Order: sequence, then C-alpha cells, then structure tokens
Amino acid sequence: MKVTVLTAFPEFLSSFLSTSIVGRAVERGLIDVKAVDLRDFSQGNYRQIDDYSFGGKGGMTIMPEVLDRALASVGSDDAKVLFPTPTGSVLTQDLVEALALEKELVIICGHYEGLDERFVRESVDLEYSIGDYVLTGGEIPAMTLIDALSRLVPGVVGKELSVTDDSFYNGLLDTPHYTRPSVWHGQEVPAVLTSGDDARIEKYRKRTAAFLTLSRRPDLLSRANVMDYLEDEVYVGIVVSSDTVDPSGMRGIAQSAGAYGVARVIAAPERREDFDALRNTLASVPEIKCVPSVRRMTEWAGRKKHAPLLVIAAETRPGVPWLEAKRRLVETGGPTLITFGAPPTGENVIAMRPIQTTGGELPHTALVAATLDRFFGSR
Ligand code: ADE
Repeated sequence: MKVTVLTAFPEFLSSFLSTSIVGRAVERGLIDVKAVDLRDFSQGNYRQIDDYSFGGKGGMTIMPEVLDRALASVGSDDAKVLFPTPTGSVLTQDLVEALALEKELVIICGHYEGLDERFVRESVDLEYSIGDYVLTGGEIPAMTLIDALSRLVPGVVGKELSVTDDSFYNGLLDTPHYTRPSVWHGQEVPAVLTSGDDARIEKYRKRTAAFLTLSRRPDLLSRANVMDYLEDEVYVGIVVSSDTVDPSGMRGIAQSAGAYGVARVIAAPERREDFDALRNTLASVPEIKCVPSVRRMTEWAGRKKHAPLLVIAAETRPGVPWLEAKRRLVETGGPTLITFGAPPTGENVIAMRPIQTTGGELPHTALVAATLDRFFGSR
C-alpha cells in the first residue's frame, strides 16, 4: 500500500515513520509512506498556504489552489483522498479494514480551521474523525490511520495471531494482559494463566474479554459473533410439526445450525428420519438429538450441572429485544438452547421478541438462519 500525507508539518511524521513497528514496515518496504510539504506548493515569497476564512473570526483556512497543486503532484488519479476532520465519519476498525483494501491513499492534513470546502467537495473522497475532540491539526489522525492500517499488512506485526486476537478484530474487546513478575505490588497474575492448560487459558481469556465488553462497551455486542466467548455449547431446539416444516426445511435448518457453529439440533423423534437422510449427504450438519417433549429437550440441554442452562425462546410475543437476549447469552455463558416453535417454561427462559419484517412472516428455515446470524454472525 502507498500512502502520501500532504502536510504543512512533514517533520511531525518523521520519527513516527522511522520508529518501532511502523518504522520497520516502512524500512522493509511493506508499506510505502511519504510526507509531502504543502508549503512547496505555496504562492508568493512567504510560502503562504492559508488565508483568513471568509466570515470567520480570524481563523485561517488552507487555500484551494495550494491543495490542488499538492494533490496533482502525487500524480495518481486512482488514489483515495482522505481528509481527517472532527466533522468526519468516525474511524472504526471496520473503516480501517475497508481502507486497507485500497492500493493508494492520500491524506490531507488541515491546520487552523481546515481546508477550503470547495476543494473538499471537488477532491476529497472521505472525511474521517478519530473521536469527539478537536486537535490542532490532521497529522495525529493521519498517523493514527497509518498505524492501524500497517498492522493489517501481512508481515508487519510479528505473529498474525496477535492481530486476530486484538480488540475489535472479532468484534469484542481484548482480554487484559500480564507479564513477569507473577506477583507485583501484592497482586497476583490470575492462576489459570500460569497453569499451562491451553484450553482453560483460552476459555478464561474469552470470558474476561466478554465481561469487559459487557461492562464497558455493550454497544459492540450487536455486531459480534459471540460463539467463541461462551463457556459451553449452543443447541437449537425445533418444536414444529412436519406440516409446518417439511424434510427439505429441516435440511435447511440443520445446515444453518452447522454453519453458525451450533453443537446439536434437538427435535422430536418423528423427525429422526429427516435428519438421518441428511447426515449421509451433508458433512457440516451437527449431531441430531431426538427427544419426545420440550421438557426433555431442556433437561438434556442442561444435563451438565456446572452452569445454568439459558433457554432463548425465539418468535414469542411479547418478548425482550434480541440484543438483550444476546447480552444475557454472553453474561450466562453456559449451555444455551434456542428453541423455535414452542416456548419452554422454567427458570432462565428468555422470550425473545420475534424478528420483525415489513411484509409477511418468514418461513422457519429463514427464521432460524436470521436468528442465529444475530447471535453468531459477525458484521
Ligand atoms: N482534526 C482535528 N481534530 C480531529 C479529529 N478529532 N479527528 C480527525 N481530524 C481532526
């Protein structure tokens, strides 16, 4: 990826571009970043690049001709042109990942009051903000974006794993980290992290990440696949008659369950034949458990006594909004049964408000897929 930063203060970026991980990436040619001095495109002897804003209170705005000449000097018609400004769209990990797909970026740093709006309208593709505060110029937001982009370039961050484990990569916050000494100021590192038991460590890290997200950034939950953050398995219970869902509908339901990582589909014994036929033809279909009643379904799903069973009854009216059901799912973390067709009764049962459509009702196959996607699909 090639990035050109047009700035009145190129020296601002020089240590950033030669230090640490970004510095190494630049040196190794993994990313190509250049800072270009806007003053080289000024007019007159005073290297003037800005002038008083019309109708302003004495603030300065960078002149459109200067910006135009500087941009033309980059010599690329295909580059995506960005302007960091507090009035832009918020820079999120998603936006960074979308920008990482571009071949070439030009970032134009404003100072004082910013850039002449006519130039922005004519030449800027995206205005972005790094947060709800006002900085003195666009250089720090430019470096913020370059830093976030460079981490996504293969080979820049040592182990790929550390990128995929980071905050926001899976949609939830990262787990806290510890290093030596194992006791510091009387505080011990959580014992599980020094246990050497990889499976327990992984589970602990995912659960602490889940709780941190629940307490600090519950807003992130709506877009995250939370399957990995649960301690136990998820089951889908189908309590619908063969008049409502025929064998091919069952096939679709079982395929969706498999695609979203559901451990078992639980259904009435008369559906066994539908599933047996499936298992021979589809590899990714989860195991099917057949039980004679909804009560037996919940008993089976909750058979592991170490954690409470959470039952989410989809398509019941009235019910809690699906995001609240998702929050409860992450909080409980134990085995979870999501039922379709008949709401079981008992403790820990959440009746979930039906998925709303603007037209008619969804067929059961689509309903199961849409429901599972809200919990276990990532955006
Ligand atoms: N320029 C000044 N403040 C800014 C911000 N918060 N984000 C992006 N660019 C800026």
